[in-house]
Amino acid sequence: IKKIGVLTSGGDSPGMNAAIRSVVRTCAYHNIECAGIYRGFQGMIEGDFKEMGPRSVNNIVNKGGTILKSARSKEFMTPEGRKKAHDNLKNAGIDALVIIGGDGSFTGGLVFNKEYNFPIMGIPGTIDNDIFGTSHTLGFDTALNTVVEAIDKIRDTASSHNRLFFVEVMGRDAGHIALNAGIGAGAEDILIPEENLGLERLLESLRKSKTSGKSSSIVVVAEGDKIGKNVFELGDYVEENMPEYDVRVSVLGHMQRGGSPSCFDRVLASRLGVKAVESLLEGKSNFMVGLLNDKVELTPLEQAVKGHSEIDRELLRVSEIVSI
Ligand code: F6P
Repeated sequence: IKKIGVLTSGGDSPGMNAAIRSVVRTCAYHNIECAGIYRGFQGMIEGDFKEMGPRSVNNIVNKGGTILKSARSKEFMTPEGRKKAHDNLKNAGIDALVIIGGDGSFTGGLVFNKEYNFPIMGIPGTIDNDIFGTSHTLGFDTALNTVVEAIDKIRDTASSHNRLFFVEVMGRDAGHIALNAGIGAGAEDILIPEENLGLERLLESLRKSKTSGKSSSIVVVAEGDKIGKNVFELGDYVEENMPEYDVRVSVLGHMQRGGSPSCFDRVLASRLGVKAVESLLEGKSNFMVGLLNDKVELTPLEQAVKGHSEIDRELLRVSEIVSI
């Protein structure tokens, strides 16, 4: 391998820049070339490449977002689009790829690898933490800190007005953000897709909370929860059934994806970038680098895409106990 291409794809996440930096500098360390590919697979199709050296990635370790930009490419889903992408890579002398993204990006990479036998390595970058083969995806820790900080602020006003707040957080179909940030922010209840509390049990739990002497409450709701009502309908439903509560709803939205990465995410990104490049140089392909038991390990990309990143059920119990 003489030249590695690096791209970010799918939803951006804090720590992607630190991973790009690590990939670029690991290439330089091993005296191979590196090209940044802009706008993910779409940039591959359009030949939007830039040669990158150690100085191209100065002062980005602390920056949120991705300097390479990100996109979801429909054209890459077609054989014609992938052919264009392959021709461009060949013309630019790029002979391996590091893909920083989530499972959609890895699936695209796998299809490309099957068609062209092109070496690829994945780095998990998404705030959702929904990828099998790593305890943490890049951006998850930062997003948790952002959510906790936001809920702390909501708690101030909730307690001043004796209110009940439903706070919706991201996570797509997974409840990792809700569960962890919920515990961290001291939520009274946490609604996640993996465990449907049900409306009746929610009301019961809120009643208990009131009779136990709590004057305000925070319920963290994962956007993918299965309770059958969106967060605003849920707020209305609770207010109708429990007029003793003054209910407000807050949807945190995309602010959860931005901001300077936490130290944890920066260190993780640096470790994963080194391992991704060095694994390609050892002739490995079709793996994702991830963190397992605090060691950087390889998981076959196919498994990372198909496997389930289970929530830690013990956290549900912890949450129930500490919110009593
Ligand atoms: O996968 C990251 C994520 O932020 C999810 O939590 C959320 O469901 C989705 O992306 C939002 O996507 P978009 O930015 O395309 O609206």
